[in-house]
Amino acid sequence: MSTDPTQAQHSRVPSGVPSRVPQLILLAPMEGVLDHRLRALVAGVGGVDRCVSEFIRVTDRLLPARVFLRLMPELRHGSRTPAGVPVRAQLLGSEPAVLADNAARLAELGAEGVDLNFGCPAKTVNRHRGGAVLLDEPELVHGIVAAVRRAVPPGVPVSAKMRLGHRDEERLLDNARAMAEAGAGEIVVHARTKLHGYKPPAYWDRIARVREAVAGQNLRVIANGEVWSVDDARRCLAESGCDALMLGRGLVADPGLALAVRGLVAPGWDRIAPLLPRYAELVRPEVAARHRGGRIKQWVNQLRRHFPEAQALYEAIRTVHDADTIEQTVRSLCAPQAAETAVPMEKARESFDLAGFV
Ligand SMILES: Cc1cc2nc3c(=O)[nH]c(=O)nc-3n(C[C@H](O)[C@H](O)[C@H](O)COP(=O)(O)O)c2cc1C
Repeated sequence: MSTDPTQAQHSRVPSGVPSRVPQLILLAPMEGVLDHRLRALVAGVGGVDRCVSEFIRVTDRLLPARVFLRLMPELRHGSRTPAGVPVRAQLLGSEPAVLADNAARLAELGAEGVDLNFGCPAKTVNRHRGGAVLLDEPELVHGIVAAVRRAVPPGVPVSAKMRLGHRDEERLLDNARAMAEAGAGEIVVHARTKLHGYKPPAYWDRIARVREAVAGQNLRVIANGEVWSVDDARRCLAESGCDALMLGRGLVADPGLALAVRGLVAPGWDRIAPLLPRYAELVRPEVAARHRGGRIKQWVNQLRRHFPEAQALYEAIRTVHDADTIEQTVRSLCAPQAAETAVPMEKARESFDLAGFV
């Protein structure tokens, strides 16, 4: 689809132009949500400079190329989405040498860069010494980043994504310095500890401390967490002092958010609704029938956080199990003409805050 924001009809103009427009906006990795299909659609709306793949779990061996290609088919297309937005591959693991081997393989496959996951809060991942628990061991964090940095050619960027800490923030600055000294070119800071989970708020001011700790090192700090609106983005940039944002759930719920944050005109429901039948088409040949409907419901559920019109659609498919019926409903309610004439449901606004994520 077109990424030209000036073509938007019935557009939403942000309440105010952000006082600071970010230099860089990234689409966050979201395992189980932002697969390559949804990445393509969301990044295709515009305003996103780069995506990150869902985490690719590495245990004790070099993964075969087909695993990388399945999780990140963009590797077949120069590590870019169909709209040309670069996609960086994210690895999750704890063995520096094994992560390094897999990073080298990704570089051979043409990955735009390699990102390392130090933030996953999932119990099974943490039990196997992966994700946010690694933040208890800054030396290991250093070892991982350094090994991966050495393993890939100098032109391939290496970045890291972290939370404020595992149980507390005690080692926040040690971890950030470890990443910087080991050669990370970017650090994304999700401004919560693992214990905070996804519970608001995100502590954006802590990101400013990270920036100060690594000032003078040649790396960029990117702020992440709980940015749902232009106002949130403005406050996050001000509190963190960053010039770059990573947006996750906010961009899934409102694919026009990156444009809006840049002060550009963002598409309304009339432009977003037709992406749903497109999504169903992309999911259909690749996802087992029993999961297909769930994928579509999941995105509609998230969209209704931002678009009241999505509530009517959600009500229509919520209790339906048959994937074909769900797809048909989406096709009939979200075809371009249907979306243009859809009447916003005032009632839908009431249940906005109840919308959850996976
Ligand atoms: C369902 C879900 C899956 C996620 N998967 C990943 C992942 O694979 N790798 C990662 O680094 N972060 C992952 N995250 C964290 C997000 O990238 C992001 O840091 C977090 O959602 C906060 O940003 P937001 O408030 O903009 O969503 C995930 C978050 C959610 C909700």
